[in-house]
Amino acid sequence: MGLLGAGDALEAFPWMKLLACAFMAWCAVRVLEWAWWRPRRLSRALRSQGLRGTAYRSLAGDAPLTERLSREARSRPLPLGCHDVVPRAMPMYHQIMKEHGKTSITWFGPVPRVTITKPELVREVLSNKFGHFAKVKFGTLQRRLHNGLGSHEGEKWAKHRRIINPAFHLEKLKRMLPAFAACCTDLVQRWEGLVGDGEPYEVDVWPEMQNLTGDVISRAAFGSSYLEGRRIFQLQGEQVGLVVHAMNKMHIPGYLFMPTRTNRRMKQIASEIEVLLKGIIAKRDNALRAGEASSDDLLGLLLESNIEHCRGDGNSKAGITTDDVIGECKLFYFAGMETTSVLLTWTMIVLSMHPEWQDRARGGGASRVRQQNAGLRRHEPPQNRKW
Ligand code: HEM
Repeated sequence: MGLLGAGDALEAFPWMKLLACAFMAWCAVRVLEWAWWRPRRLSRALRSQGLRGTAYRSLAGDAPLTERLSREARSRPLPLGCHDVVPRAMPMYHQIMKEHGKTSITWFGPVPRVTITKPELVREVLSNKFGHFAKVKFGTLQRRLHNGLGSHEGEKWAKHRRIINPAFHLEKLKRMLPAFAACCTDLVQRWEGLVGDGEPYEVDVWPEMQNLTGDVISRAAFGSSYLEGRRIFQLQGEQVGLVVHAMNKMHIPGYLFMPTRTNRRMKQIASEIEVLLKGIIAKRDNALRAGEASSDDLLGLLLESNIEHCRGDGNSKAGITTDDVIGECKLFYFAGMETTSVLLTWTMIVLSMHPEWQDRARGGGASRVRQQNAGLRRHEPPQNRKW
């Protein structure tokens, strides 16, 4: 018996031809609806409410504009003493608001975004209970970075939040102070080693602060396993760079599944992080269940709280799964690293711009802190430096 080819089959059964055409037409309509009709409808609806903003032109949304404006902004140095950081840090939003007002529309691929700046409007959106405000979802790309509280909603968010909350109680955070102090002491000692005989020495503080926050989170999150934690922090740092790069290409459907070098590396990093975290979690979980472990770090507190939650509920399945714990650990890095390192770096820049603020900061501290700071010199900004 011979086999029929696709073409022969279509000839033999004309209704199949009809079915294939109908299927292709259905796919085309779905694509058009997603990429063109829906964005146009949403744009009209938003504009009819008096909102203005960029026009929807293609699946790329405002990504090319964002890229161009960011490149231009970063090519010009910020003059020393300048505090006007918005045009440099968020050039696209700065320009759109200047042109279209403080409540304006931009496009993330085929999805419109309404930027609001009035605090009362923000309060209204966040506090109303209609559930219209949803978290932005980046699908696979987001899971590559984290799959934790930051992306959960509704019941799942409430359950995770209940379990994680105890890890962030003030008393528990105080127990982590020795870990924070150890990281800061390491850094200051290293810097002191770089300065020879009172000669000035220039340090690029941005990578230093990234390392410091990575170190603090590794110790605060994983305690004695902090060396494995450090490796996770390096991998996570690389992953953030790759994800940001991929976000500009997200509008190409299926792009993330293509075997490009970046996509393969992202997948590789995600699995390496997962293997490391699974190892740390399994070790700690076993120790905790055997009643051995101290839980002064975030992971210990999270696992302890999870066990308590299951006990309280009388159901061993009431807690969160190992995959959930992995997602939350990745979120600790993602949420705590860039945020804190950017804040610390900017603080150092501003303190260098205003040496008198350094004096006020020292003067305002408790006497214990004042004594510790006695050895620290006042730091002047390097001359002719443009930030
Ligand atoms: C200067 C430092 C920080 C800033 C400016 C900052 C800012 C924020 C913001 C704006 C959100 C809300 C995000 C959203 O819902 O879309 C958030 C959530 C979160 N942050 Fe931070 N953060 C900082 C440091 C940290 C640190 C050190 C950690 C812990 C290691 C952390 C853990 C979290 C977590 C777990 C959430 C999710 C909370 C929830 O959805 O219930 N953050 N942070």
